[in-house]
Amino acid sequence: MAQMLAARGYADVVLLDILEGFPQGKALDIAESAPWVRFSGTVTGTNDWADTADSDVVVVTSGVPRKPGMTREDLLGTNAKIVRSVVGQAAKASPNAVLVIFANPMDAMCHVALDASGFEPARVVGQGGMLDSSRYRTFIAMETGASVKDVSAWVLGGHTEATMVPIVSNASVGGVPLTQLLPADRLQAVVQRTQRGGAEIVELLKTGSAFVAPAAATIEMVDAILLDEQRILPCCVRLSGEYGIRDAYVGAPVMLGTGGVQTIYDIPLADDELAAMRKAGDAVKELVAATPAG
Ligand code: LAC
Repeated sequence: MAQMLAARGYADVVLLDILEGFPQGKALDIAESAPWVRFSGTVTGTNDWADTADSDVVVVTSGVPRKPGMTREDLLGTNAKIVRSVVGQAAKASPNAVLVIFANPMDAMCHVALDASGFEPARVVGQGGMLDSSRYRTFIAMETGASVKDVSAWVLGGHTEATMVPIVSNASVGGVPLTQLLPADRLQAVVQRTQRGGAEIVELLKTGSAFVAPAAATIEMVDAILLDEQRILPCCVRLSGEYGIRDAYVGAPVMLGTGGVQTIYDIPLADDELAAMRKAGDAVKELVAATPAG
């Protein structure tokens, strides 16, 4: 993420970790790529929150990744503790920042971050739908043979295998409905591969989870916020009645710009998709109830 954001050329990037030397080494390596990648922002590594003071956006990646055979939910206890501590310190150093939450189980970690920061919900937004939509669009392109550039398809709901909702009813490629391009069984296979997209990478890598697509998806959100782009993107946000869901972090289309989430859209969905959204809302509430208190 740091590398991708630095390469955009408009932001100063600070990498923070508890390991001494590690963020400094990573930052220096990225900074040393600047002459060839051609960017002029700074990239700094640190172990001290003071160096992150007054950040506009803080991306919280802290936490342990999955190992093969683990679900994202298995990380709940360990990562809740880490996210609570990191977000508390980040919020103190940068009281006006927008927090982009990445640690898993991401939907539940948004609740932890909201609580630990004391920020309003518009400034605590989760990355999940962005990555899952990226996978969905990639698989649709592979399956149809069409350019990924023309694929318009979104994953809403939760960022767990059981709660992810790849939306079929409004998916299209260049305006052609996806249901017209793929027979039902192939479409179902694409939906299932999307839901297992993270696990597929974990099984191949064996030692951790995906990096590049998650980074690209997250930095797209950072761009939207820092550059006040008013992008409409699938992000994990606290719903207040949309889709019949209240007080739960669930993926939905939102407008992102300065200050974080500017609008949440309650779009028409097929009945089974709406039911799956509500199931995602119930599931995250269950995870929140099971999260060990700070
Ligand atoms: C994934 C992890 C990062 O989906 O949640 O790859």
